[in-house]
Amino acid sequence: MKAVLPAAGWGTRFLPISKAVPKEMLPLGAKPVIHYVAEEAALAGCTDILIILNQSKESIRRYFEPDPVFEEILAKAGKTKELAAFRSPAELARFHFLYQPEMRGLGDAVRLAKDFIGDEPFAVLLADTVITGQSPLGHMLQVTAETGRSCVSLEQCPPERVSRYGIAGGVADAASGLYRLDAMEEKPALEAAPRLRDAQGAVLAPHAFAARYVFTPAIFPALEACPPGRNGEIQLTDAMRTLLREQGFYGAPLAGKRLDIGNPQGLLEAAALFC
Ligand code: UTP
Repeated sequence: MKAVLPAAGWGTRFLPISKAVPKEMLPLGAKPVIHYVAEEAALAGCTDILIILNQSKESIRRYFEPDPVFEEILAKAGKTKELAAFRSPAELARFHFLYQPEMRGLGDAVRLAKDFIGDEPFAVLLADTVITGQSPLGHMLQVTAETGRSCVSLEQCPPERVSRYGIAGGVADAASGLYRLDAMEEKPALEAAPRLRDAQGAVLAPHAFAARYVFTPAIFPALEACPPGRNGEIQLTDAMRTLLREQGFYGAPLAGKRLDIGNPQGLLEAAALFC
């Protein structure tokens, strides 16, 4: 199983530190945020992880690649515990790296993974977001493998934030324990936002996409067909809507919380939970 971790964004909300340190490399304890994300992918069964980078984010590559020279120094010094910690990132999975030539949005970053993925369902995990509690990814991968439908994780969204996120509508599906989606809107006004309904048809609070996706390979032609939108960016939600129409789509509510560390406040909140 393969996973894609887009990590090429500018990180403008984290300037000035993101000028030299990628936001995905900011620490929660002794590990950077992206380590937790890779760990989650590995635990869900992903053996090959592709990280989408840009040239100024080489430290991410260095972090996940083995370093035999320093490993030998630690081994010779008998520093067994330190050696295990030093090796731990590279041991999570087989890592692969690709460079996004222009920051044309999340849809463009995912599109670059086409040749790496081939013809199987795959996971996408936003590299600047950590999930607490049970990850939904393993179940999402299983459901997509069994049904041929893609799947996105969902989190209840406060009304005042609806206009900032992708919002899903759909109905509870007893067989999968998930929601069968029937609508997706990127950054809608609250009144126009689609809603989930429970098994009795009761309308729930708005639910936003929550940084974890499992796609069938049909996402690639759907992305190719997406015209660039605002700022030349390719919106992942547009291609997801094509899949919703053509194949169907599931939503998996999070058991825990999504910690978005793409901004300083989010990192502080995450650090309080992790340290
Ligand atoms: P964000 O939109 O939160 O990241 O994308 P950003 O563009 O870095 O944010 P700001 O607004 O400038 O602060 C979510 C994830 O998608 C990646 C980011 O690195 C992040 O992990 N991403 C985003 C890409 O890989 N490529 C892009 O073109 C945009």
